[in-house]
Amino acid sequence: MRVAMIGTGYVGLVSGACFADFGHTVTCIDKDAGKIAALNSGSIPIYEPGLDLLVAQNVKAGRLFFTTDAAEAVRGADAVFIGVGTPSRRGDGYADLTYVYAATEEIAALVEGFTVVVTKSTVPVGTGDEIEAIFKRLRPDADVTVVSNPEFLREGAAIEDFKRPDRVVVGTEEPRAQAVMRELYRPLYLNETPILFTSRRTSELIKYAANAFLALKITYINEMADLCEAVGADVQQVARGIGLDGRIGGKFLNAGPGYGGSCFPKDTIALVRTARDAGTPVELIETTVKVNDERKRAMARKVVKALNGNLKGKTVGVLGLTFKPNTDDMRDAPSLAIIPALQDRGAKVQAFDPEGLHEARELLRGVTFKDDPYDVAEGADVLVIITEWDQFRALDLDRIKLLMNAPVLVDLRNIYKPEDMRARGFAYTSVGRAAV
Ligand code: UGA
Repeated sequence: MRVAMIGTGYVGLVSGACFADFGHTVTCIDKDAGKIAALNSGSIPIYEPGLDLLVAQNVKAGRLFFTTDAAEAVRGADAVFIGVGTPSRRGDGYADLTYVYAATEEIAALVEGFTVVVTKSTVPVGTGDEIEAIFKRLRPDADVTVVSNPEFLREGAAIEDFKRPDRVVVGTEEPRAQAVMRELYRPLYLNETPILFTSRRTSELIKYAANAFLALKITYINEMADLCEAVGADVQQVARGIGLDGRIGGKFLNAGPGYGGSCFPKDTIALVRTARDAGTPVELIETTVKVNDERKRAMARKVVKALNGNLKGKTVGVLGLTFKPNTDDMRDAPSLAIIPALQDRGAKVQAFDPEGLHEARELLRGVTFKDDPYDVAEGADVLVIITEWDQFRALDLDRIKLLMNAPVLVDLRNIYKPEDMRARGFAYTSVGRAAV
C-alpha cells in the first residue's frame, strides 16, 4: 500500500516508520523544511529509543521518504494519514484543530482516485464529520472516506506499542475503507491483534476515554499515596494488592508527582470541554485535572518539609526533568511546576536530565544545568528525583552522600527503598510511604 503521512511529530514519524517497516511505501510530509532536511540526512528530531535505526533501515530499503511537497505522495496514496499536532487552545483548553483542518485542505486539493483519509492525531468527537464536510465543499468530485484511527503509543516505548498494540481501533463503517485499513495493519492482523471496527465518532471518543481513564487511575493512586502517608500505610503494597485483582490491573498504578506530557493534560481538558458542550459533564475527569494540578505544588511542599520548612539560600539538586524517562519531551513535565515553586521560596536549583537538557534550558529560568547526577549532588542540601530514568536507579549513594552538604533525598518516583536509605544514613522522603 502507498501511504502519505502528514506531520512528522511523535505520532506521524513513529507511525510512518512502522508502516514502512510493515512493508508499505510511506512518504512523510512536513511543512518544516529544516526538519525534512534533517530527516533526509539521517538525523531524527526527537529522542525515541530505536527510531533512528528503524528510520535508517526503511529509508535504505526504499520504503520511507521525507518531503515538504505533499502533491506526489497524496496523489498516489491509498491512505493519507493526518498526524499533525492538536495542542490545547490557549485560554479555553479545547483541542486546537487549525493544523488538522489546514492539512485537510491541502489533501483536498490533491487527492486522486479512491483515497482513505485517516485521522491519527487525537481529535475531538465530530472532527471526522468536519473533515468530511471540508472535502464535500472543496472537492465534491473526490472519492474519499474519512476514517478515525487513534494512536495509543507511549513516548519512550512508541515502536513496541505500535508494533505490538493491545488493540487497533478503526472508526469507519465503509467497507472499502475497512479493507484498506485491514491491509495496512495486516502484520498485526496475522498476530491476532484485536482490530476493532467502530463508527467514526465512537473511535474518536475511545481515544479520549482511554487517556482520561489512565489519567484518572494515576490520580487515584496518587490520592491513595497521600492517604498512605497520613495513616502509615505503603502505597506500593496497596498498588500491588489492588493491581493483582484482574478487574483493576497493576499497570499505571505508580504513585508519583502527577501525570504530565503531551497527551494526558491536554486530552483530559479537551474531554471535559466536549462533555460540557454535550450537556453531560464528566465530573470525575474534571476533578482529576484539578487534583493533578494541585499535586505539583504539593510535591514542592514535600521538598520544603524535608528541609524543615526553610529553602532560603539552600541548594536543591534535581534529577530528571522530562515528564517521564526515555524521552526528551518536557511538555507539561511536573518539573516545570515544581522547580519554580522551589525557586520562589528562595532555593537555588541545579539539575540534570539525560535527554531533556536541551529543551529544559528554554523552559526553566535561573537553573544551573549539570552534566551528570554527581555534579548535581555536589554542594546540594537536598536531592530531588523527579523523573525515574534508569541511570538514577543505581547511583553510587556513598559518593552522593559525600558530595552533598547533607544527605537528604526526596524521591518522587519511589525508586529507592526506605529501609536501604535509612541504613545508608539518608533522610529519605518518598511518595505514599513513611519518611525515614
Ligand atoms: C499516553 C498514553 O499512555 C498512550 O497510550 C497514548 O497514546 C499517549 O498518551 C497519547 O495520547 O499520545 P505518554 O503521554 O507518552 O502516553 O506517557 P505515559 O507513559 O502514559 O505517561 C504519562 C504520564 O503519566 C507521565 O507523566 C508519567 O510519569 C505518568 N505516570 C504514568 C504515572 O505517574 N504513573 C504511572 O503509573 C504511569
